[in-house]
Amino acid sequence: MARAIFQFPSDFLWGTATADHQVEGQSNDSWTYWENLQNNKVYQNQRAGLACDWWGGRWREDFERMSYLGHNTHRLSIAWSRIQPDAHSVDDSAIATYREWFQDLQTRNIRPMVTLHHFTNPMWFEEEGGWLSSKSVERFVRWAEIAVDAFGDYVDFWCTFNEPMVYVAQAYLVGFFYPGQRSLRKMFKAIEHILRAHAGAYQIIKAKQPQAQIGLAKHIVIFESIWPHFINQIPVRLIHQGFNMAVPRALASGELKMPLQRKIVIPELGGTYDYVGLNYYQRYKGGFSPMHPQTLFLTQKHGPDAPPAPEQWGEIYPQGLQKAVGWVWNTLRKPIYITETGAPATNDEIRQWYIIMILIRIWRVINGNIPIKGIYYWTLLDNFEWIAAYNPEFRFGLYEVDFETQVRTLRPSGALFRDITLANAITSEIIEHHAPQFYEGLFPGEAGLQSVKFT
Ligand code: BGC
Repeated sequence: MARAIFQFPSDFLWGTATADHQVEGQSNDSWTYWENLQNNKVYQNQRAGLACDWWGGRWREDFERMSYLGHNTHRLSIAWSRIQPDAHSVDDSAIATYREWFQDLQTRNIRPMVTLHHFTNPMWFEEEGGWLSSKSVERFVRWAEIAVDAFGDYVDFWCTFNEPMVYVAQAYLVGFFYPGQRSLRKMFKAIEHILRAHAGAYQIIKAKQPQAQIGLAKHIVIFESIWPHFINQIPVRLIHQGFNMAVPRALASGELKMPLQRKIVIPELGGTYDYVGLNYYQRYKGGFSPMHPQTLFLTQKHGPDAPPAPEQWGEIYPQGLQKAVGWVWNTLRKPIYITETGAPATNDEIRQWYIIMILIRIWRVINGNIPIKGIYYWTLLDNFEWIAAYNPEFRFGLYEVDFETQVRTLRPSGALFRDITLANAITSEIIEHHAPQFYEGLFPGEAGLQSVKFT
């Protein structure tokens, strides 16, 4: 029996998140096109290739793994490029494949949250001008309609866009994703269209499925200034306002206000969310540097106490979760799902530490009476990590994948996450068993009581 316990609510959702291009393999979308350009944007010019081979049939064994882990939900995305091979047709065989997946999840009592856009587009959509074209809005709304018609009997939990600001910044500002552009003006245009598309998708899904829960996954990053001087505070504040806050505020108010830009009024956008999806990972400590024009004159560095992480990642920083939750909660006031969180780590102890630290913080937030309703850990198994491709430093999985053989191995962090999920709690026994090195810190016992002083 448990001695000490951090108990989660009885209806808490436990799962992982994945994205089509990262796990399915044999994709044919804008990212495939990008990989095929071999333009040195992707680590070692690698291609996703078979990825985790879900399209080849390995989804079945991995769904079995979700059951083994005790999960009652899974967030996955479906590939627009597969279902709409061009603007005017629908591929019934792709629909049939995904229906088989949803059927299987249903028999496992795993509730799917389905993302409609996770960083990729069909190439026909890109050829029309992608998110810079005003046609993009109606195209996406049609896609949402196709999806709800095809899967509405299995799915009523929708996530329209994954990390819209990350996507537009990568595709149109820093140019690491297709179409590789570098223009603030284009980035602003793209985010405006995406928000209009989200609003249209929300409305069409709601009209067909009034009970649906619809939202998007918003990435929040803790940005802090390395140096106290105001010249560093200014860019850090502007980035926080633009990257973190503009989208939540627009969802709440129907007004998109990017720093230094004129306000754009999108009346149909206001209130188009039934929940808040929060993707939370890291902290960037940054500042102004005239030496770095290629990163928009910003530089960043890791604090001395941060666990080792790839340079580009910023700091692995579970300590920032409450701040991130506070920002979205104060703006949006709807139930929150942690739609992604995780850590890139070669050393699995870091992943274990991260899991414990983030879950304790989620527990604290819930006990402060802010409704976090579930967690989607990023991610079930190692997969294709965008510009980091199969770089061994960027492994996030509860299962390790050997991409030569497709063999999966449960990591100790996966076993820990499983036991917590099955107990719906972090117990002193689980920590003693899986991560005794953190026991004293989490359950300080008499030593902890001694430190409580009345002064
Ligand atoms: C993205 C995932 C990605 C993860 C780790 C998130 O921002 O949604 O697709 O794999 O971060 O980089």
